[in-house]
Amino acid sequence: MIELESVSKTYTVGKENVHVLNDVSLTISQGEFVAIMGPSGSGKSTLMNIVGCLDKPSAGSYFLGGENVSGYKDAELARVRNQSIGFVFQQFHLLPRLSALKNVELPMIYAGIKKEERMERARKALEKVALADRMDHLPNALSGGQKQRVAIARAIVNSPKLILADEPTGALDTKTSTSIMELFRELNEEGTTLIVVTHEPEVAEYAERTILVRDGVVLHGDARARREKL
Ligand SMILES: Nc1ncnc2c1ncn2[C@@H]1O[C@H](COP(=O)(O)OP(=O)(O)O)[C@@H](O)[C@H]1O
Ligand SMILES: [Mg+2]
Repeated sequence: MIELESVSKTYTVGKENVHVLNDVSLTISQGEFVAIMGPSGSGKSTLMNIVGCLDKPSAGSYFLGGENVSGYKDAELARVRNQSIGFVFQQFHLLPRLSALKNVELPMIYAGIKKEERMERARKALEKVALADRMDHLPNALSGGQKQRVAIARAIVNSPKLILADEPTGALDTKTSTSIMELFRELNEEGTTLIVVTHEPEVAEYAERTILVRDGVVLHGDARARREKL
């Protein structure tokens, strides 16, 4: 489903080139649950941004579901994101002035879905994350764990094949983290491909496979290569 071939990412800061990802090759199959670990600053978020079509590689190619998206223009990438990918972030990224229900409705507005269906699907998504009784709350009136559940409802509401979560439990206590990871496990069992960046071994344990990133280099990037070695 995901195939990165010799992907590099370089930022130019002033006159200097900063090489953030170096020759990364990575294969993730449909239905996998993968954890990404590595020290702070190693390039995990940059990698997730490329996989999530939020950013483009400086070199190399990226195939998502067989489509070579590395040459796509911004508008095409936006369409791929909206239709195929759900995002969950450490700091939730909810809009503070919108209720839980309205936050979850947003990706469907971008997808051009009619009001009635939006409401129905947003309610269902919030029920799925056990927030049926908090739909009209503003983010401020929700706990950290509840905010992350709203973010997950928003991520799943367009039924994406892929969910990317960048340190989704980084701002949560252990007990809340466990319930969020149980929710991710359930989504993965239902067939969603899941990639989770984490610093916590307990979180990585939920994944079938852990990819290590060090200084912009991916270790164990290819599931097939890894299986052949075992
Ligand atoms: N837009 C940018 N411009 C310049 N350097 C960047 C930019 N984004 C990230 N970096 C640098 O790339 C490196 C990796 O960042 P990041 O992918 O956020 O790492 P991680 O998520 O593993 O902590 C860091 O050294 C960071 O400073
Ligand atoms: Mg990061």
